[in-house]
Amino acid sequence: MSLNSLPPVQEVAVPLGERSYSVFVGMGAVAHIHRLLPTSAKRAVVVTQSGIAAIPDLEIPTLTIHIPAGEEHKSLSTIEDLCRQFAQFGLTRNDVVIGVGGGLVTDVAGFAASAYHRGTAVVHVATTLLAMVDAAIGGKTGVNLPEGKNLVGAFWQPSGVICDTNYLDTLPERELRCGWGEVAKYHFLTGDDMLALSVEQRIALCVKIKADIVVADEREGGIRALLNYGHTFGHAIETTTHHQYAHGEAVAIGLLCAAHLAHVLGRIDSARVEHHYNVIQTYGLQASLPSTMSAQEWLEVMARDKKALDGLTFILDGPNGLETVSPVAQESVVEALNRMASKS
Ligand SMILES: NC(=O)c1ccc[n+]([C@@H]2O[C@H](COP(=O)([O-])OP(=O)(O)OC[C@H]3O[C@@H](n4cnc5c(N)ncnc54)[C@H](O)[C@@H]3O)[C@@H](O)[C@H]2O)c1
Repeated sequence: MSLNSLPPVQEVAVPLGERSYSVFVGMGAVAHIHRLLPTSAKRAVVVTQSGIAAIPDLEIPTLTIHIPAGEEHKSLSTIEDLCRQFAQFGLTRNDVVIGVGGGLVTDVAGFAASAYHRGTAVVHVATTLLAMVDAAIGGKTGVNLPEGKNLVGAFWQPSGVICDTNYLDTLPERELRCGWGEVAKYHFLTGDDMLALSVEQRIALCVKIKADIVVADEREGGIRALLNYGHTFGHAIETTTHHQYAHGEAVAIGLLCAAHLAHVLGRIDSARVEHHYNVIQTYGLQASLPSTMSAQEWLEVMARDKKALDGLTFILDGPNGLETVSPVAQESVVEALNRMASKS
């Protein structure tokens, strides 16, 4: 197919030297998948889930494997199962694995590819909003253990990523809302007015912001931590409510808690706090605290956060943009939570 007959896409580069790749964003972008396959690939394995639309014919022998939905299947036994099927199909390290799905699929397919033959190319077709703006970009792959989430994994950059917004048409509403929770954090990582952009432009901008951060800090030693804005409070909500709040919903509330905390610490003014509310409410996300959490619970869970090396640690907005702030006094956190509670 000639390039002219393909739907137009925005191309975002992830420049990582010999591991550089492109992300194609747009309606119908999956038609561009041939452009991302390694020229050496003579076979492909598609890893996906039921309920997700198929990708176009790749014109090479292709095995499609469906993995079950649910975090419990993001496991080492799924990796073993995939790698065994790769081997039985005759996949070589010159071939390609293609993850077609949300973050669960891209994490699992990416990790299987990183380990198979000590590294086989992987292309991601992100089919949830969260995968488009976050999980599929940046090369973090992995699975859970019974002892904890994402404890085993590898950095393995894909050879390319597709963010085809047509997939969002079939995405359950709650999954979409969770994706907007992650998109919301990018509003505070850019000076651009993201609300003025189309969905495709907004996704492409999120990809660009994430790509720039990954390029500056591929192994998450420094500024890549800024992508966790809102996540310390968000994780506390997920843990304490036993996941009644999905990740993106919890992150959205976490962004507001973080805005109040930055205000308490004199880092931002009340107009900037209001801007946080405006973004969260535009995306139809909850803007109030879970009523069941006590201040003590908040503090205990956040003190266990892996970033809390020298006392409570947060990513906070401020005059120079987002920064890691540590240690933060417990009284300031309690004051921020009280301010948020009294606002709702
Ligand atoms: N590697 C990273 O950097 C990174 C970043 C963030 C999150 N993650 C991981 O991503 C995972 C969560 O990803 P997620 O939120 O995309 O959820 P998910 O991948 O679990 O997908 C949620 C549900 O939506 C379905 N689905 C996916 N696309 C669909 C579509 N287009 N139409 C209809 N149904 C569709 C899936 O089958 C699944 O049932 C977690 O495991 C998390 O740890 C990884």
